[in-house]
Amino acid sequence: MSPKRRIHLGIDYGTSTSKIVFRDYGAPGGETAFLVVRDGSFRIPSRVCVTAAEFVFGDDKSSAEQCDIYESVKMRVAAEVADNPRFYFGPWNSLPNGFDSLDLAVLTLWFLISEGHRAVADYLGSHTEGISVGMTMGVPMAFYNDSRLKSSFLAIARRSWSLHRSEGQLKSPLLIEKAKRLLEKHRVLAETTIPEYEIHDWLRSEAEAAMWWPFQSPAISDGPYAKVDIGAGTTHASLFRISRHFPKIPPSLAFFGAVSEPVGMDAVDRVIAESQNLGGDCLALRGLEESILRSDARACRALSSVQEEIYEAYRKAWIKTYEKIANSDAERKAWHGHRVFVIGGGSLVSKLIETVTVHPGRRQPLQLAPLEQPDDLAFPDGKRVPKNELPFVTVAYGLSNIGLSIPEAFTPDQMPPLPNMREHRARLDRDDIYAK
Ligand SMILES: Nc1ncnc2c1ncn2[C@@H]1O[C@H](COP(=O)(O)OP(=O)(O)OP(=O)(O)O)[C@@H](O)[C@H]1O
Ligand SMILES: [Mg+2]
Repeated sequence: MSPKRRIHLGIDYGTSTSKIVFRDYGAPGGETAFLVVRDGSFRIPSRVCVTAAEFVFGDDKSSAEQCDIYESVKMRVAAEVADNPRFYFGPWNSLPNGFDSLDLAVLTLWFLISEGHRAVADYLGSHTEGISVGMTMGVPMAFYNDSRLKSSFLAIARRSWSLHRSEGQLKSPLLIEKAKRLLEKHRVLAETTIPEYEIHDWLRSEAEAAMWWPFQSPAISDGPYAKVDIGAGTTHASLFRISRHFPKIPPSLAFFGAVSEPVGMDAVDRVIAESQNLGGDCLALRGLEESILRSDARACRALSSVQEEIYEAYRKAWIKTYEKIANSDAERKAWHGHRVFVIGGGSLVSKLIETVTVHPGRRQPLQLAPLEQPDDLAFPDGKRVPKNELPFVTVAYGLSNIGLSIPEAFTPDQMPPLPNMREHRARLDRDDIYAK
């Protein structure tokens, strides 16, 4: 029997839009990753629309007059499960009768898995024999560190996968009554426990996934870095060290601090709209921010409050990092010149790049770390993904990797404070610090 050809879906389930990359490990010309396109765009709306009888997924056209709209379901699940309203700033509109927010997330993910499979089927044509498909979904690092959030998002991933395996593609619109019946049928299946090491196959942190590509790249040297992901509704900042070249230590990504703040490009759009008295639908400004800010001084001035809020994620992640490195002179010095990766929609706005390339402690400028174009990432029609789209897709691209190709990643909670180097001068050696 010939070995299976593996295809892996990386699903970046975003609060406003989701992105999917599938990786074909057995592609004829060598391993290749493909960005899934739906209705001409790789940004697949994450919101759920509900009419009198149906759920509609992936739809950003319907208005609140036509249906009930649930935005940011992912963050609403987090707020409910962790009992922490800071995760979700949307309206607490009542959910469809008989469903909780977790059910809505399961259905959305089933829809995204279906979109991934549809793209894989289109790509493979009739060559489907011996194919095995798997998936990994991304969650903010803060979710990964909270046992309740981790188990809830694991259940979301496994239930949606089992729905896809036994019920096939989710066809949107989906009858509400049918959704209720199927969710009930697959509730129990996902409640069996799985070993810790398998959880990583289902769930990975978005921060670690986003940095998979820089981690692989020989052009990126070992050392301390920050990554700031400015999305539509959230900004995630994480500070980490890439360590690949120590003898006897597996290559790893060690995260010192990771913080999410519920502010992002939607807030930028809101203040720009207000500064221009546009009122109404400020989200119509999506994608136009850079050109408006370049030409309009009023919009620039209005941006300052949001700049500060976005910077707050970075500042807080730095405080957590500093708590870990405070006792090590060498480590503190190394962080003076850390470099910053900026991804997500905000990375296309130069004012925001300026904002997040300032050291949160020393207030001195930092260098931007370049995001190189991977040569194995393409659209299904073979076209390469252009450089200006890369900041949107690095998370899904990283998630499309399986098993051994993923570096060992230590989350901030797993990272012990560094030993007091003033007391341990003799041990002042990076091998000692990172051997744990
Ligand atoms: N060409 C573009 N097309 C669409 N959005 C753009 C473009 N350029 C900048 N943007 C901004 O990027 C934002 C989306 O960024 P991104 O895809 O990183 O967010 P997200 O992942 O959906 O959100 P989150 O990370 O909060 O879940 C849009 O809201 C818009 O403001
Ligand atoms: Mg995002």
